[in-house]
Amino acid sequence: MSTIHAPVLLNECVDLLITDKSGSYFDATLGFGGHSEAILQKLDSKGKLVATDVDDNAFNYCKEKFKNDKRVSLYKFNFSMVDVIAKIESLDGFDGILADLGVSSFQLDDPKSGFTFRTETKLDLRMDKTKKLTAADVVNELSEEELSLILRDFGEEKNHKKIARAIVRTRELKKIETTSELKELISEFTPINFLTKTLSRVFQALRIYVNDELNMLKEFLERSVEVLKPNGRLIVISYHSLEDRIVKDFFRNESVNQLSPKEDPFGLKTKAARLKIITKKPILPTKEEIDINRRARSAKLRAAERI
Ligand SMILES: C[S@@+](CC[C@H](N)C(=O)[O-])C[C@H]1O[C@@H](n2cnc3c(N)ncnc32)[C@H](O)[C@@H]1O
Repeated sequence: MSTIHAPVLLNECVDLLITDKSGSYFDATLGFGGHSEAILQKLDSKGKLVATDVDDNAFNYCKEKFKNDKRVSLYKFNFSMVDVIAKIESLDGFDGILADLGVSSFQLDDPKSGFTFRTETKLDLRMDKTKKLTAADVVNELSEEELSLILRDFGEEKNHKKIARAIVRTRELKKIETTSELKELISEFTPINFLTKTLSRVFQALRIYVNDELNMLKEFLERSVEVLKPNGRLIVISYHSLEDRIVKDFFRNESVNQLSPKEDPFGLKTKAARLKIITKKPILPTKEEIDINRRARSAKLRAAERI
């Protein structure tokens, strides 16, 4: 298991998530079932685990892994459809919802998945291969300005203008189709000791855009609150500042009775808070965990409880 994907902050997640051993839980990011397996170990025979992943490899692997466990229902839906899934399952809500965002180590390491810039592969970056838009479409079809904004907003890349210009110049001569072609054009003007970090930011930006990750996360959070039972817990592990900011702001907005200044500029209205924040500060992995699993180094866990 650990060779495919080592689950991050595993004990912390499960301890915070499960408040009723016979309850119903939703794993929004099934992956290779590390968190799901630990949740199932804590549940009794009346407990239920519903889980989803848009990635074919992850879904098929877990279909097999959990095939003999009647407490498990698996979906290949976007996690933003958490409310639809609850309806299909005829559940009146979940006692806990977990999202371990981003991509799995398997997706990152498998050359065929197209998530890595470390090996020569087609520029793809789709988690859900049934979707049409690939990273190759983005770099070959969007305008220089649009590319620059994607690199700035989703990659927090300082050289966004320069990279966008280089992409557009290169594709005027030949379509950019592989990870190596993109890597090569960026390496032409990036000092070697900054190259890996720059490439990580560029690939992160393209991945977020291709999968519409930030909007899906916002929808997921909004709909999760609607299908959480009172005292049910929502736990999110994020891996970069853009995701973490969305989770933090959402939890904060949902834990106060005032509307945001954007919704109510004069502070005249009130709303009912729907969440109580459990983690005042995010929970981070220990040094021991990071030593064993480098992917854990950027993880931040935030948890809240439905009021
Ligand atoms: C970090 S991995 C989860 C690993 C999992 N917790 C485990 O222990 O094996 C994230 C997974 O979420 C999936 N994913 C990301 N965004 C998704 C979305 N919007 N809807 C459904 N699955 C998504 C990815 O395909 C990936 O398999």
